[in-house]
Amino acid sequence: MKVGFIGLGKMGGRMAERLLEKKFKVIVYARHPASMKPLVRKGAQASSSYKDFCVKLGKNRKIFIMVTHGKAVDGVIKGLKPFLAKGDIIIDGGNSFYKDSIRRGKSLAKKKVEFLDAGVSGGLQGARNGASVMAGGTKSAFKKAEPIFRALAVKNGYAYMGKSGAGHFVKMAHNGIEYALLQSYGEGFQMLEKSPFKLNLRGVAKVYRNGSVIRGWLMDLLAEALEKDVKLKRFSGKVGGGSTGTWALKTAGEMRIKAPMLEAALRARKNSAKKPDFSTKVVSALRFGFGGHLEPGKKS
Ligand SMILES: NC(=O)c1ccc[n+]([C@@H]2O[C@H](COP(=O)([O-])OP(=O)(O)OC[C@H]3O[C@@H](n4cnc5c(N)ncnc54)[C@H](OP(=O)(O)O)[C@@H]3O)[C@@H](O)[C@H]2O)c1
Repeated sequence: MKVGFIGLGKMGGRMAERLLEKKFKVIVYARHPASMKPLVRKGAQASSSYKDFCVKLGKNRKIFIMVTHGKAVDGVIKGLKPFLAKGDIIIDGGNSFYKDSIRRGKSLAKKKVEFLDAGVSGGLQGARNGASVMAGGTKSAFKKAEPIFRALAVKNGYAYMGKSGAGHFVKMAHNGIEYALLQSYGEGFQMLEKSPFKLNLRGVAKVYRNGSVIRGWLMDLLAEALEKDVKLKRFSGKVGGGSTGTWALKTAGEMRIKAPMLEAALRARKNSAKKPDFSTKVVSALRFGFGGHLEPGKKS
C-alpha cells in the first residue's frame, strides 16, 4: 500500500520508518527538504511540493500528517487541498484538539475527502516499535486506512473510537490521565528525596519497578533516568507542554465533571516556571524519557 507522510519530526520520522519496514511504499514531503533525507536513505520517495507529493501518491491517496498541533495542521491541509480529490483520506496523527478535528473533517467533506483523527500514544519508542492508535471519523474511511493503523500499532493497540473527533477526544482524555500520573510519580519521589532516611532513590526505583502496584513503563523510565543521574541535574524542573491537559480540563468543565488531579498537575506545571523542585524535575525527566520533550528554552 502507498502512504503519504508529512511531519518527519521525532514521532513522524520513526513512524514513517516503521511503515517502510512493514513494506509500505512511503512518499514523504517536508517544508525543509533536508529532513526527508534520512527516510529517503531508508527507501522513502521524496517530493518537491504538495503537488508533486499528491501526483506521486496517485488516486485514493492516504496521507498521514504528524505535525505540531494547531496552525501547522491547518497549513498542511491548506497546502494539500488544491490537489486532493474524492476518495482521498487524510489522517491527523498529532495531538490536535478534537473540536479542530471535527471542523477539519467537515471542511474536507465538502471536497468528498475523508478525514480521520487518530491519536497516537507510546512516545518515541512506540512510534518506532509499535504504538497505540485511537481513530475517529467514518467507519468506512477507517476500514480503508486500517492497514496503516495495524502497521503502526502493537497487537491489539488500535481501534475505531467513533465519529469525527472521537479519536482525538480519546487521546485528550489519555493525556489528562498522563498528566496526573506524571505528577503523582513526581510527588512521591520528592517525598523520598527529602526523607530523613537518606534513601537510595535508585534502589527504591528498582523495587518499585519490579512487582509493585506502581510498576509500569513510566516507573521504568524514571528508574532509568535515576540510574543515569540520581539528582536529575540535567533537568531544571521547569516543565514544558500543557496544551492537551488544558484542553482536557476545559472539556471537563464544559461537561460539568470534576478533574481535580488534572487541575493540580496543570497548576504544578505552571508554578514550575518560577518554583521548580524535585517533583517537577521528575515530571520533566519522564516527559523527556517517553517523548523526547525538552524543557522550555533548552535545545538538547
Ligand atoms: N513526542 C511524543 O511523545 C508525541 C506522542 C504522541 C503524539 N505527539 C504529537 O505528534 C505531533 C508531532 O510531535 P513530535 O514529537 O514528532 O514533534 P516534533 O519533533 O517537534 O516534530 C514536529 C513536526 O511538525 C512539523 N511542522 C511544524 N510546524 C509546521 C508547519 N507550520 N508546517 C509544516 N510542518 C510543520 C515539523 O517540521 P519541520 O522539521 O519542518 O519544522 C516536524 O516535522 C504533535 O502533534 C505531538 O503533540 C507527540
